[in-house]
Amino acid sequence: MNREEKQLALEELNRREEERVKNGPLAQSATQAVPGEGNPDADILFIGEGPGKKEDELGRPFVGAAGKFLNELIESIGLQREDVFIANIVKHRPPGNRDPLPDEVELYKPWLEEQINIIEPKLIITLGRHSMGWLLGPNLSITAIHGQPKRRNGKVVMPMYHPAAALYRGDLRPVLKADFAKIPKVIELIDKDQGVTAAEQEEEIEKQAALL
Ligand code: URA
Repeated sequence: MNREEKQLALEELNRREEERVKNGPLAQSATQAVPGEGNPDADILFIGEGPGKKEDELGRPFVGAAGKFLNELIESIGLQREDVFIANIVKHRPPGNRDPLPDEVELYKPWLEEQINIIEPKLIITLGRHSMGWLLGPNLSITAIHGQPKRRNGKVVMPMYHPAAALYRGDLRPVLKADFAKIPKVIELIDKDQGVTAAEQEEEIEKQAALL
């Protein structure tokens, strides 16, 4: 699909999925859906947890204080917010910004999965523990694996701390900046990798990235 076709497919998906979840628990209390936004043909897809108060008001992801820091991080590697795609696991704000419940995550799963299928990003960056768990499985320690690219189901996934965590833990700001600084090199490794078997790619990307 070219960029326009991807854009149309995403819009159609959003209409369909909004209809599907409209009677679900989160949609009832939220102001509106926040499906995500950005370049439908992006190389990089960021996945956060769920909309907060400001996102719920505006219908756009990461537009509050955490979003401001995310924009800064994106710009620190020479990209603009419009170059990437930004989405969340759940598309309606959990009341009071609580964590989404397992059933809620399950309900929104097909929406995010289909976004990934349409956008076909080279690199998925999970922001925070929830989104890491969604893609890489439970019981992983973000402290241990942040900034390390992993391959899952043919996709390269790089877990990172949530930018909101750095707002109350200042020591995480330089950690996030350092992890972001690896992104261009990881994309380069992924590009170089074309044609190698998946198992070899996985090993090679992880090995080389460990040296970054
Ligand atoms: N935090 C998230 O996880 N997602 C947003 O969209 C905003 C804040």
